[in-house]
Amino acid sequence: MAEQVEIRRLSPAELRAQLDGLAAVLHDCVAGGASVGYMAPFSHADARSAFEGFAAEAEQGRRLILAAFSDGQLVGTAQVVLELMPNQPHRAEIAKVLVHRSARGRGIAGRLMERAEDEARAEGKTLLVLDAVTGGDAARLYDRLGWTTVGVVPNFALYPDGRPCDTTYFWKAL
Ligand SMILES: CC(C)(COP(=O)(O)OP(=O)(O)OC[C@H]1O[C@@H](n2cnc3c(N)ncnc32)[C@H](O)[C@@H]1OP(=O)(O)O)[C@@H](O)C(=O)NCCC(=O)NCCS
Repeated sequence: MAEQVEIRRLSPAELRAQLDGLAAVLHDCVAGGASVGYMAPFSHADARSAFEGFAAEAEQGRRLILAAFSDGQLVGTAQVVLELMPNQPHRAEIAKVLVHRSARGRGIAGRLMERAEDEARAEGKTLLVLDAVTGGDAARLYDRLGWTTVGVVPNFALYPDGRPCDTTYFWKAL
């Protein structure tokens, strides 16, 4: 039977109910070496605490959180950061695009990004910005989805094991 993938914007109640699922995806990505803000060692409890913070911001309308469910199981997530400085009301940032290693290569991140753009547009946003590790899986995804490269910042961040990585900034007009 074909896999059923559903993308949903999580309500405050669903966010609370899905905290462990969201944390499991973040934990798996960091365990897999992704440079998404955190250093090793990084536990499930650390990941849950990160998502508790994001959920609190989502409840205040400052960001929105999407989740991808494969046959009912949470396998991916993405965020739209809505609240930036007062002089940038038309702009949002895409953050924490994460797909569990077991669910990669099936177009789930592509669908999360498509939905993130739709949600941002519905919030009145006309410009999106994001950044990704230079030359990585995510940067390839954003290229494929029509994002424009701004440039590379050398040594912008670290991988979880402490090695430095370059970052590429992208933008997309909606
Ligand atoms: C980057 C990331 C989100 C991509 O997730 P994903 O769901 O695997 O992405 P997609 O499936 O849309 O695309 C991945 C690859 O599968 C291919 N693909 C997509 N659908 C496919 C399908 N149905 N059949 C075969 N291949 C497919 C894509 O062409 C792409 O190929 P490429 O890597 O050679 O360019 C994921 O690798 C991840 O979570 N990485 C760690 C966290 C991270 O770095 N996040 C980014 C923060 S900016």
